[in-house]
Amino acid sequence: MSHAMGIERKRKLKEEPSSTIFLLSAALFFIITTLVGLLVAVKFVFPEFMGNVPQLTYGRLRPLHINGVLFGWLLGADMGLVFHLVPRLCGNKLWSEKLGVFTAVLFDLIILGAVFTTTSGYTQGLEYAELPLPLDVGVVVAWILFGVNVFATVWTRKHEKIYVSLWYIMGAVIWTAFVYLTGNIAVEFFPGVNQANLNWFYVHNAVGLIFTPLGLGIAYYFIPKAAQAPLYSHRLSMVGFWSIAFIYVWTGAHHMLHGPISQWLQTVSILFSVMLVIPVWTVVLNFFGTVAGRWDHVRQDPVLKFLMAGTTFYVLTCFQGPMHSLRTVNAIVSKTDWIVGHAHMAVLGAFSFFAIAGALYAIPLLASRPLHSVKLANQSFWLIFTGGLVFFGGLWIGGFMQGLQWNQWTIPFIDTVKFMRPFWIVRLFSGLFVYVGIFLVFYNLVRTFTGEPATERQPAVPAVGA
Ligand code: HEM
Repeated sequence: MSHAMGIERKRKLKEEPSSTIFLLSAALFFIITTLVGLLVAVKFVFPEFMGNVPQLTYGRLRPLHINGVLFGWLLGADMGLVFHLVPRLCGNKLWSEKLGVFTAVLFDLIILGAVFTTTSGYTQGLEYAELPLPLDVGVVVAWILFGVNVFATVWTRKHEKIYVSLWYIMGAVIWTAFVYLTGNIAVEFFPGVNQANLNWFYVHNAVGLIFTPLGLGIAYYFIPKAAQAPLYSHRLSMVGFWSIAFIYVWTGAHHMLHGPISQWLQTVSILFSVMLVIPVWTVVLNFFGTVAGRWDHVRQDPVLKFLMAGTTFYVLTCFQGPMHSLRTVNAIVSKTDWIVGHAHMAVLGAFSFFAIAGALYAIPLLASRPLHSVKLANQSFWLIFTGGLVFFGGLWIGGFMQGLQWNQWTIPFIDTVKFMRPFWIVRLFSGLFVYVGIFLVFYNLVRTFTGEPATERQPAVPAVGA
């Protein structure tokens, strides 16, 4: 590494440390908490595995995996990417880097606290909302600080026009506050079926109003950049934004179809779930329209590969969702492993792909040097993509048949559990592929900072680290 490059790298790091801290720590949480998912997958095949240690039982590792990947990895990476792209879209620096660094460190401490509380069994006992109250308060404080920095940067911007990514990000900042407060704090004050209703509102909108707008805001930024093409339609992107804003909040009750809530609420949730095809079509037309005629870039560039595969998974997820919401389909798939396949396609297949793409693009810029290895990034893509397809597909097939069996009262429940074993073995091995791919992404990002560039020839596409 030349002396000049070293100085330039230090200068950039000094300029944007908050984004760097968020992204690198998120990547670290990614490999640790996905490994926990893998351990949980082993337990499904060998239930006695690590069974005697309380900290390593299913009931503690599952929440650790879920909260770790959703908040430690995905939300942390999204926050780092937001700090990276908002100043660029505004034409100025982040309003306060010092505040950004403080937010990133506070956020990481909260995640470390969550590792301790979930493994100790100190949780709220609510799905996706296991963090205890003191940590919830910490999350709220971190989010307020994050929001202040984002809005102040937008407020003091030099570019007059607000690009679509900024709309999605500002929407996400406001919606996340409401969704998180409802699902983690307000939910404690409502017992019984109302609590279940609020909890499902939170679970569904954690995806719909937190990870969807953040993920789409990131994709709307990086797809035109990496494809080196203008966005296909600004108007369509705004139709998508406002339809997400109005539709998502009504859909949470579709998790309780055939349950003890009023019929009208179930019907409203079904109607709004079906309407979710509107934002999906705006995304399909916009993202595929933007890269039309540039598929040669996708072939070479791992960033675009992750972005376009993520788009495809997003579309499939949002086609599945409305279908599950129909009463007849729901009677078969609800609470089965089909839903676990669906959840992984959304948060791993769609939104993690967008975040990985963003990290592969942004980290070289933050480190002021090309990505350590484009070849390795392409190999990681194929490992995660093919592993993911088998992972999701196996759980859909197994889960659907599991649901059909549950609908036949003559089949003992334990037989339906035994029936799932081969599908859980498939998840374990495909999960291993996914894990190796994720680990290689982490290695590539870290080596971009610390090591020498790989000796391989870099492709002509200048998107990565240009
Ligand atoms: C090696 C890869 C992975 C494996 C083997 C794995 C395995 C598992 C297992 C065994 C469960 C529990 C399912 C159950 O209790 O029925 C689970 C749940 C979950 N995982 Fe993963 N996981 C992996 C990667 C990820 C990643 C990368 C994410 C997110 C970015 C993720 C998000 C989730 C979520 C949201 C759930 C809860 C699903 C639900 O709502 O029931 N997982 N995972």
